[in-house]
Amino acid sequence: MKFHVLTLFPDMIIQGLSTSVIGRAAERNIININAVNIRDYTLDKHKKTDDYTYGGGAGMLMQAQPVYDAWREVSGGRKIRTVYVTPQGIPFKQNLARELAGEEEIIFLCGHYEGIDERALEEIVTDYVSIGDYVLTGGELPAMVMIDAIARLVPGVLNNEDSARTESFHNDLLEYPQYSRPKIWNGKKVPDVLLSGNHRKITQWRLEQSRERTRRIRPDLYEKYRRKEEAVKQLSKHKRNNIHMIESLVRGKAELLYAEGENLLIYNEDCKICMITAESREAGERMLVLAPSKTRLFITGQDFMNEPVCSRFSFVVYHECYQVLYTKKEPLPVRHNDIRLLTIEALPYVTEHYDMGDEKHLKKLIEAGMMYGAYVDGRLAGFMGVHEDGSLGLLFVDKEHRRRHLGEALVCYCTNRLREQGCIPYAHIIKDNAASLSLQESIGYYIAEQTVFWLGTDA
Ligand code: ADE
Repeated sequence: MKFHVLTLFPDMIIQGLSTSVIGRAAERNIININAVNIRDYTLDKHKKTDDYTYGGGAGMLMQAQPVYDAWREVSGGRKIRTVYVTPQGIPFKQNLARELAGEEEIIFLCGHYEGIDERALEEIVTDYVSIGDYVLTGGELPAMVMIDAIARLVPGVLNNEDSARTESFHNDLLEYPQYSRPKIWNGKKVPDVLLSGNHRKITQWRLEQSRERTRRIRPDLYEKYRRKEEAVKQLSKHKRNNIHMIESLVRGKAELLYAEGENLLIYNEDCKICMITAESREAGERMLVLAPSKTRLFITGQDFMNEPVCSRFSFVVYHECYQVLYTKKEPLPVRHNDIRLLTIEALPYVTEHYDMGDEKHLKKLIEAGMMYGAYVDGRLAGFMGVHEDGSLGLLFVDKEHRRRHLGEALVCYCTNRLREQGCIPYAHIIKDNAASLSLQESIGYYIAEQTVFWLGTDA
């Protein structure tokens, strides 16, 4: 991933990001930091980049010309997300870091003095972002803060990818306290439970500590967590029918937008998916109005889903599916001994054989460690993966290897991996795909009683 920083102080960026984790990632070419001196682009013979503001007022303003020319050189006519760091921007949060980590290149624009001429900003900026409600002397520190938060989410930047996955803010709770050797330091003892070796008790203790810490320090986050817990409890009354919504909330993939008893509206911002379950048509329609625009809709509790509702809201039904889920305690037997995580070398094969996703999307899934391949005599013969929304899918088996249980082995293998990560494996299967439904059932998956609908607003 490439970060360009347009600044009057390139040394500050280079020095600030050349050590520790980010510095090592840059050395290993996993990320690239390109600090560009805006002053190099001024046409002023004294190399000036600022001037007085029209209309009066204290301080100087960065002029449009050098900023715009520096940006044009870097972007080279390509559409690159351009972030202006400013106290006037939207708050920088983990969600935005995650979204920006999906870009291949980002340009950061750092202001100084009183800011930058509005006309340049209008031409080039796609996102105005602030790191907090305080004013700094320039945009370099905020840009570095954002680069650090984004870069650590890029696959390969952290040694142990789990550490990016399981820490603060992923489930709306702050992290629990941690301890290392010695057992007693300064008269203070490590809590007994952590020395007990009882992993169930340790997990329970950590959750309790996280809850307590969040309740005390961040009551706003705690309230969000509590509402989510309540929603999961409601959804779990009909676990099979609500598995997608349950797992989206539990895995931290969706936020609760509306809750009234068993009527729930949740939103997966990364995938732009709005999920609704409703007890009645009236409740369902009330929530449909609240759905953010330009999203796909996922509807369960389909009593309220019918032709008139669809046409009134101008929705098109993309698919009607059965949800299938694996909730048994035992891992599944895998009848093929060469299934492994796909690496980026497999991208051409996957792109050629999977016709429902573009190359960029498939690359992201492989890099995120969400795709597995089955190999026969060392050669890739099929694959399966986890969609960005959390459901299992993307199954493909080469023609010459069909009828040899390779598909089944891939399903079993992926199911086991998801279970190990503490997830309930589930998939959406098109209603009339009888072969796939009976395969899942024969493996041990349950099929939900009700179908679900995927809707959108275009054909
Ligand atoms: N520039 C100056 N202060 C800032 C802040 N709080 N966030 C982002 N950019 C800034």
